[in-house]
Amino acid sequence: MTFREDALAGRVALITGGGSGIGFGIAKAFAAAGAKLVLASRNAERLETAIGELKAMGAEAIAVTADVRKFEDVESAVKTAVDTFGHLDVMVANAAGNFVVPLAEMSPNAWKVVIDIDLNGTFHCAKAAYPALKTSSFGGRFIAISTTRALEGWPGCAHAGAAKAGIMSLMRTLCGEWGPDGIRCNTIAPGAIGDTEGVKRIYEEAGRKELELSSIPLGAFGKTSDIASAAVFLCSDAGAYITGADIVVDGGRNRSRSSTGVKVEATEAAE
Ligand code: NAP
Ligand code: COA
Repeated sequence: MTFREDALAGRVALITGGGSGIGFGIAKAFAAAGAKLVLASRNAERLETAIGELKAMGAEAIAVTADVRKFEDVESAVKTAVDTFGHLDVMVANAAGNFVVPLAEMSPNAWKVVIDIDLNGTFHCAKAAYPALKTSSFGGRFIAISTTRALEGWPGCAHAGAAKAGIMSLMRTLCGEWGPDGIRCNTIAPGAIGDTEGVKRIYEEAGRKELELSSIPLGAFGKTSDIASAAVFLCSDAGAYITGADIVVDGGRNRSRSSTGVKVEATEAAE
């Protein structure tokens, strides 16, 4: 799926965790739609590789090393974006940490580290970006990456489930508080997206890949570009009247807990 080359022309976007997986997928789609990019995360080497790919696409892009657990790091990334490109129009809070461990075996620090990266990190993104987003001539966009597991209980990932549910609550509040400033605040909730660290850790390493696949009505893991398309739409003029929404991009997984994953031919189904 491609959007018009100028769908995001003139916009500057900061993406946390933009050097890998879903974040990098969003970065590439934003670049293809004409946006300038700032990627922020801890691993400078990985960021530079990603920036090289974006520049090869013809995009203007820079990397900033930042740990979203530290407010001053995120604030500094926003400042670098504004100093370099003159403004910031889109903030995507995508950085996250997760691993499978039942609560009974989860150390207090294991709980804390995920809440710190996911929930506190998203708050830091919101707080740091607000002054710039409210002056965006396009109408600011704040997007947080959630998950369809956030509100249904997530055995093995209590920390990430709680953090993502907190993010969804935060975004509902920001929709109300920042609407008058023209800032649209939405979450995108991916299902299982193939070729990502998330699916590797949560499903493949836990021996649940086939089970997970069988629960998806569309019969396949999603692609990072599927999430990226939703992000481009929300940040383009076409998404101007959308705020406070949770955009689910999951191949139908959350609607089909009992799906067998077996395709039924139309003729059979009609019998
Ligand atoms: P990923 O490639 O591991 O992405 C996580 C990113 O966050 C990395 O680029 C990492 O970069 C960055 N990061 C981690 N801790 C950080 C910190 N303290 N400060 C700054 N950056 C940090 O995994 P992914 O699967 O693409 O996940 C991306 C997002 O999608 C996450 O919000 C995840 O919860 C969500 N999600 C994924 C799936 C899925 O199927 N993959 C499903 C639902 C939701 P550094 O290591 O360089 O810091
Ligand atoms: N099972 C149980 N506990 C775990 C764990 C696992 N697989 N991985 C980490 N922990 C615990 C550690 O033991 C530690 O607790 P302790 O101090 O009581 O021993 C705590 O979590 C913090 O671990 P640490 O490695 O010090 O954290 P970090 O800040 O270096 O890294 C993580 C953060 C743990 C989230 C790391 O996995 C990460 O950087 N993830 C980013 C990528 C990612 O998770 N992608 C998927 C996104 S969906």
